Amino acid sequence: MDLSRSDFPEGFLFGAATAAYQIEGHRFGGAGSTHWDTFAAVPGNVVRAEDGALACDHYHMWEADLDLLKDAGVDAYRFSTSWARVMPEGRGAVNQEGLDFYDRLVDGMLARGLKPFQTLYHWEMPSALADLGGWTNRDVAGWFGDFVEVITRRIGDRVAAVATINEPWCVSFLSHFLGHHAPGLRDIRATARAMHHVLLAHGEAVGRLRALGQDNIGIVLNFDHTMPASDAPDDVAAAARQDAIFNRWFIEGIAKGSYPAEALEGLAPHMPKGWEADMATISRPIDWLGVNYYTRHFAGAAPDQPWPHLRDVPGDLPKTQMGWEIYPAGLEGFLTRMARDYVGDMPLFVTENGMAWPDVVENGAVYDPERAAFLADHLGAVRRAIAAGANVNGFFYWSLLDNYEWAFGYEKRFGLVHVDFDSLKRTPKSSYHEFAAALAR
Ligand code: FCB
Repeated sequence: MDLSRSDFPEGFLFGAATAAYQIEGHRFGGAGSTHWDTFAAVPGNVVRAEDGALACDHYHMWEADLDLLKDAGVDAYRFSTSWARVMPEGRGAVNQEGLDFYDRLVDGMLARGLKPFQTLYHWEMPSALADLGGWTNRDVAGWFGDFVEVITRRIGDRVAAVATINEPWCVSFLSHFLGHHAPGLRDIRATARAMHHVLLAHGEAVGRLRALGQDNIGIVLNFDHTMPASDAPDDVAAAARQDAIFNRWFIEGIAKGSYPAEALEGLAPHMPKGWEADMATISRPIDWLGVNYYTRHFAGAAPDQPWPHLRDVPGDLPKTQMGWEIYPAGLEGFLTRMARDYVGDMPLFVTENGMAWPDVVENGAVYDPERAAFLADHLGAVRRAIAAGANVNGFFYWSLLDNYEWAFGYEKRFGLVHVDFDSLKRTPKSSYHEFAAALAR
């Protein structure tokens, strides 16, 4: 990998990311059921109906996993704290074992010189709250706020940065409109409510964190570079609708206190009454913005379909194991767009970027030059964004470990480190070694 630390500004943080449900092993330590456990239990939702009950068994192997980060020479670790592990019913009783686990984990990071970047919600909605409507119920903001206080009182003194929500588009649209993720709904009213309540919960969490004296508060949004399928006006308008729903709704709510007209055009009739009054809470100031970026898509018009009248049109660039086109220019584009249109000089972090590949262990090693090239190309895009004036402060590769890739089960391998899901053996891939060498230069 033709890169070194000195190619980036002083203090730029390199890291790797994971999320609780994808690695920990949710059956351990008194964690409560989540909507992913029950979604995965229905045939057809998840490849081989796999769930996160064991995952990478990070719950027991966390010290070795933190050593992998330290040995890679990264500066920071993005992890998440599971709501259902800390509060198994989502409200009320606190699971001390869960709090103790995160306490040890954060101390373990600090002992290894790793800056803890915590995410408060990476998709483990406790089942007891899913029963009450989960993200479609306005009360979710207060429930989430209470959880945020409990976990922050325990570890907030030691985290370097905290994000409220991971990828609100996935939490709401992917999960309530497209039905691909838990709770697997396909309902526009549920979608509109989830899209609003997830931001209300974010704003509520920002308020609770500030009241506790927490600083360095942000949110992690995902972006997908959207291009029209053709120059025809209805395809151009389709791409604008897709961009509004995916790339603008959440950042405009937060940065401007409003929602884009192209998205409201379909969602407004289904929004909760009085939603406008929540925009002040939603747009409370934050300290940093996390950008997750993987790929691009072409949008075409589908006039015979209900709103948003969209059809996905395949592109022809080389693809990852997910079938996602490799398009580094999109990352540069979103970083400069965020700075220019929304957040100005506010620190930006690439909180996720990475690729899945069908990696195999041969003679005790994994050779994945495709991933090293992907990483180098996307870090190049970050450098160009910085040169263009975007205040990018760090980059987290997704993911440290091969893990539970949601509806794709354990089939898609994103890790710098290979995990054998039978023996749980970890094998750093050649991309891990190349990344470490670049960081040491
Ligand atoms: C993101 C998620 C993360 C992982 C990657 C591949 O949408 O935040 O958990 O699944 O995609």
